[in-house]
Amino acid sequence: MSNINTIEKLKNGTVPEKNELALLLGTITADEKELLRLAAQEKAQSVFGNKIFIRGLIEISSYCKNDCFYCGLRRSNKNAVRYRLDKERILSCCENGYRLGFRTFVLQGGEDAYYTDEVMCGIVGEIRRLYPECAITLSLGERGYKSFKRLYEAGADRYLLRHETANAEHYSKLHPKSMTLKTRMESLYALKEIGFQTGAGFMVGSPGQTYENLAEDLLFISELKPQMCGIGPFIPHKDTPFWDKPAGALETTLVLLSVIRLLHPCVLLPSTTALGTIHPKGRELGILHGANVVMPNLSPAEHRKDYSLYDNKICTGDEAAECIRCLSNRMKNIGYEIVTGRGDFKQI
Ligand code: 5AD
Ligand code: FES
Repeated sequence: MSNINTIEKLKNGTVPEKNELALLLGTITADEKELLRLAAQEKAQSVFGNKIFIRGLIEISSYCKNDCFYCGLRRSNKNAVRYRLDKERILSCCENGYRLGFRTFVLQGGEDAYYTDEVMCGIVGEIRRLYPECAITLSLGERGYKSFKRLYEAGADRYLLRHETANAEHYSKLHPKSMTLKTRMESLYALKEIGFQTGAGFMVGSPGQTYENLAEDLLFISELKPQMCGIGPFIPHKDTPFWDKPAGALETTLVLLSVIRLLHPCVLLPSTTALGTIHPKGRELGILHGANVVMPNLSPAEHRKDYSLYDNKICTGDEAAECIRCLSNRMKNIGYEIVTGRGDFKQI
């Protein structure tokens, strides 16, 4: 009964209490899941119709100075193969992507000192000059206010920085002491203040996570109101301290996508590669639960497998053109259509 009440609250725009959200996540029945899913799918369709936005993901560097316990790119992973793309390589990915119909480029990488503000602003400025109608999204970790501001002024529009978990104690179980939730949250508020369309997000089922923690993630999203929100299941990587931890659950991830759609109807919500990795129809299921974005890989084929955040990542063997064809078909099969265009956040 009380889960039904919580779902009703979500449907009519009331933010439930933390304990209600935690209870929903922990005890939701199959019937309640379907009720929630339908409400979220309807909400997404009322904002975006059957249109799905695409983003071309360019994984620019597998070097990282950080040592997050869950991530295969952590600096202590001596087995990781490291590469970085220079300006010319990145521009040729954009050229390829533009031809394939992408109007958003997402430059994502580990925290790699090679990409100083000067180098990065040079890259962003050149993409801005060559593709004036495209959106430039950066996902390069914590760089500090001044750096964020310079990148924004150079022409970047959006920035993705997942908070990973909104609970400080849990955050400290996933990261070394040098990283704090406080810095992460300050970075997110800074990005928003500067004017970036900002993406937060978290992993589902990361080691030590409770339903209360996930409820805190949901309340954080509902407070920050980021323009984007990236969530996906935790998946163990063999060369990390979490190598033997179980992956996050598909079902919980889907429930969370639906709750986020209802809490923040206009949010740009990707159906992530991690979701596609734990289930062959994961990305389709994500869309059917309220997501409205997919992010095919535009990275050079030869480096794909080396951007290894977690084991068994999909789409590491294909050309970008194949990924986009594959995803277009997948979306078509469930009644959706991929559209070109920047796909900016709009508050309605
Ligand atoms: N499993 C799932 N997601 C991961 N990420 C990093 N490592 C893993 C993992 N083992 C996610 C983090 C990061 C994003 C780029 O990838 O949430 O913010
Ligand atoms: Fe990459 Fe299907 S999306 S192969």
